[in-house]
Amino acid sequence: MKTHLRSSNLLRGLVLLPLLTAACLVSGARAETLPTLTIDTTQVQAKVSPMLYGLMTEEINFSYEGGIYAELLRNRSFKADAAQPVYWQTIGGAQAVLDPAQPLNTTLNTSLRLDAITASTAAPGGLANDGYWGIPVKPHATYRASFYARADKGFSGPLTVALQGADGKTTFASAAVKRITGDWQRYEVTLTTGDVTPSKTNRFTLTTTKPGTVWLQHISLFPATYKDRPNGNRPDLMQLLADIKPRFLRMPGGNYLEGDTIPERFDWKKTLGDPAQRPGHQSPWKYWSTDGMGLLEYLQWCEDLNMEPVLAVYAGYSLHQDRVAAGPDLAPYVQDALDEIEYVTGDVSTKWGAQRAKEGHPAAFPLHYVEIGNEDWFDKANTYDARYTQFHDAIKAKYPDLQLISTITPDRPDSEHVKSRVPDIIDQHLYPSSEGAMEARAHEFDTLPRTGPKIFVGEWATRVGSPTPNMAAALGDAAWMTGMERNSDLVIMESYAPLFVNVSHPTNGRDPQSSMQWPSDLIGYDALSAYGSPSYYAQVMFAAHHGDVVLKTEAQDIPTWVWQPEARTRNGVTEPAKPAQTLPALFYNVTRDSQTGTIFVKIVNRNDTPQPVHVVLKGAHIAAEGESVVMQATSRDDTNTLSEPEKIKPVTTAIKGLSDDFTRELPPLSITVLKLKSR
Ligand code: AHR
Repeated sequence: MKTHLRSSNLLRGLVLLPLLTAACLVSGARAETLPTLTIDTTQVQAKVSPMLYGLMTEEINFSYEGGIYAELLRNRSFKADAAQPVYWQTIGGAQAVLDPAQPLNTTLNTSLRLDAITASTAAPGGLANDGYWGIPVKPHATYRASFYARADKGFSGPLTVALQGADGKTTFASAAVKRITGDWQRYEVTLTTGDVTPSKTNRFTLTTTKPGTVWLQHISLFPATYKDRPNGNRPDLMQLLADIKPRFLRMPGGNYLEGDTIPERFDWKKTLGDPAQRPGHQSPWKYWSTDGMGLLEYLQWCEDLNMEPVLAVYAGYSLHQDRVAAGPDLAPYVQDALDEIEYVTGDVSTKWGAQRAKEGHPAAFPLHYVEIGNEDWFDKANTYDARYTQFHDAIKAKYPDLQLISTITPDRPDSEHVKSRVPDIIDQHLYPSSEGAMEARAHEFDTLPRTGPKIFVGEWATRVGSPTPNMAAALGDAAWMTGMERNSDLVIMESYAPLFVNVSHPTNGRDPQSSMQWPSDLIGYDALSAYGSPSYYAQVMFAAHHGDVVLKTEAQDIPTWVWQPEARTRNGVTEPAKPAQTLPALFYNVTRDSQTGTIFVKIVNRNDTPQPVHVVLKGAHIAAEGESVVMQATSRDDTNTLSEPEKIKPVTTAIKGLSDDFTRELPPLSITVLKLKSR
């Protein structure tokens, strides 16, 4: 990053800074002049959308499997590989094979045949599973272990399940099922740990001391979940999300909705009901999804965090250019979307509302936004207009109040956009690969016309840092967020992506064993613990200091820096770098909470020098005492990790000496929210 940073307060090229006055375009001669923000508290420039800050989710980077979905065992239903029970090892001389001749049901249509012919008390035979890069063992914790089993003639158990250290020498908890019958039956036991040191280099075992053969399916291990939901979510990750106070969950977003092929789409009807009846499917991110995180689980996730779903419906296009033609062929998919909306919103007198009630949730969920597809500009046959139109007409006919979202990001060519209908909202995606590239776009909404559809920035991130973004990325993000918030009469929703990454083995690239498919993800975790990146804390800071109106603010003498765009290599050919651009080094937005009167002044100082800023408030009498919330770093590379989870995080301090006209020094590389109260 540093190579792109030359100096501040010097202008070395042309730059478009729509909200800055002409005075800022003066160079070295005024280098000593303080940047000034003049906030007119009598002039509301825009309303802040109450929906602005939300979340986007999909199965990527082991977001659910090995992530927020609390199941601890990997490949619990033996569908991750058709030939072998991958992620399961045998112990004590036992043998294990997949046996399609002994299915549990029509969806889990295979089972694991365990031959523990030599098992004895001295050498129990059975299976072990190390989970998703380890199994967390915590002190005084309770786990629910369950499995389906069917014993062969001559075998009746017992079967013992246990949590052990990876070498099998230490057992942290165990419980036995004394008798196994010859018919498929579900068994459940509770495992409770004692006063142990937290660890993750552990395994789950299922063993017998009696020789024999048994078929097994759906072997599951759950720790305590958020709000104690059965089949629920991991509490630490839910808490990190709760701290963002998100207003919505775009679900399921991204490529996961589409799948590589039509059969591999998120086929919501196959994700309902008893998890042991769900077939699961291959995700486009190249690993198996059990669909334990099914449609109802997504909705309960929303309910638990007091956010509403933004429902993404499959729109007849999958990533490998597999598509359904608009017209009669598409009609069943449109009906699927209508059924899905009914499942979410219908009362119990409707077919799908009744189904939801049968599954334990009689109350309907709130729903205002439906997104039709995902990134349909990748459809090389350009069929989105026709497909969108068919969905739009059917959904609007039945649910006229729903707001419909087109997936063609605004900067795509006009020819790709929906023309036959007017979408209510357009989903914009952007993933700049440097802080400068993101900052260069921070003012792009300032001058856009307000006459067309609203904008939902449904996927975005400054992709600097791996597996999770660093401070450089957070500075780029915060600059971009000031632009979204200032223009949130137009940009009504935003969600960073991807949300999660399992950082246990983040090799990326083509490694099929990688725990990461996409670097720079908001929240990182392993089996035992989790942390928020600096970009995560930037989200927390903005969402926590929301305000409901944007106050008109003029800036003068904003320092600048010169960004040299990176040369890009495409298909092995390096393109010449684009010309250097002069960019602001400070980004800002000012909002007010109408109920409390608190004014939130958000300022990003992306330079690595301290920056005094002169703040003038017109039409308000500001109390001398307020608060500052500051996140800063000593280097752009500074970041959070599992071992230093809170190295970079916002710090709140009481401040004095505020007035209608004050100067405050911003630390280098910092994001600041000043909370000003009226006197
Ligand atoms: O967020 C990662 C991926 O980026 C999403 O799956 C897709 O929508 C986008 O291309």
